[in-house]
Amino acid sequence: MASLLESLDQLGQAALTEISAAGSSKQVEDLRVSFLGKKGKLSEVLRGLKDVSPSDRPQVGAKANVWKDQIESALKSRKSDLENRELTTSIARDVIDTTLPARKSNLGTLHPVTQAIREIVRTLGRLGFDVTTGPEIETEFLCFDAINIPADHPARDMQDTFFVGPGTVLRTHTSPVQMRKMLSQEWPVRVICPGTVYRCDNDATHSPMFHQIEALWVDKNVKMSDLRGVLDFFAKDIFGPKTKIRLRPSYFPFVEPGAEVDVSCFKCAANDPHCSICKGSGWLEILGAGMVHPHLFKVAGYDPEQVSGFAFGLGIERIAMLLFQIPDMRLLFQNDVRFLRQFV
Ligand code: FA5
Repeated sequence: MASLLESLDQLGQAALTEISAAGSSKQVEDLRVSFLGKKGKLSEVLRGLKDVSPSDRPQVGAKANVWKDQIESALKSRKSDLENRELTTSIARDVIDTTLPARKSNLGTLHPVTQAIREIVRTLGRLGFDVTTGPEIETEFLCFDAINIPADHPARDMQDTFFVGPGTVLRTHTSPVQMRKMLSQEWPVRVICPGTVYRCDNDATHSPMFHQIEALWVDKNVKMSDLRGVLDFFAKDIFGPKTKIRLRPSYFPFVEPGAEVDVSCFKCAANDPHCSICKGSGWLEILGAGMVHPHLFKVAGYDPEQVSGFAFGLGIERIAMLLFQIPDMRLLFQNDVRFLRQFV
């Protein structure tokens, strides 16, 4: 029995020494299995108790249990020490620098023409204009005849218009949408028509495909002063609250009287003779406008004695070029992402 107690002490001491030398929580776990596991060394001793004489059994059993408790508590405290140390090391090693700026995701941006369309639609929407659209392939009748552009008008020349087939053109302006709207409903009408239009034109300020927005307001007693008021609101909202407008008499077959509308230069306010935007004139031409010609009301079936109205139409690329100070219209359509990324 003495030798059994002795070998128990040796086993216990060896366990404590190995536990205190363990270098990782994994090693501690391995030691637990090797001493206290089902087939562990101490468990084996305890299993051998049945061969010890009944009189010695309590003493051997008590010693084995004392060692078991000591080994368990040594395992526990070594494991917790090592786990703490491992945690500290991993925090130091896997450090996350939360002050680093996040990697920018490659998001697209709205095209400057789309931005300008949305801005203009939003502004006129605040005045109660609804959005309506028409087809890009249009009848020659609606694009020209119905809105008082006679057959011999230069706009109908092959040089200016893309003909698609007999009596069919790529619309050269959004004005036919005025007529489509009036043919489709009774007055009052208050609409804006954004859309793509086409002309045989190509240089730094003209593109064969471009965008216009048409506005049409028809009701009882709509006056030129209403047109002026709407344009004044529009110009101030788009170009800034100090913007002024001026109307210069002009000719468009579908309005009478007609005007070209200029806004005061939002960059130099006429104070810089070398201004890159207005070239020193102080004014920028932005659109054509006028009071709806009675011919259009007759085609639409409205009584020109009962109603009146105004219309205006503007080129969106021109507005975008002014707003974003873009020198060449072709840049808008080359779609070079280095250019487009500037308009966030
Ligand atoms: C018209 O197209 C008329 N329908 C506008 C109108 C509507 C007047 C209602 C009166 C009442 P104009 O041909 O001037 O008008 O064109 C209007 C605008 O389109 C021009 O001021 C210009 O900004 C733009 N524009 C014309 N041609 C081109 C082009 N090739 N490329 C880009 N923009 C153009």
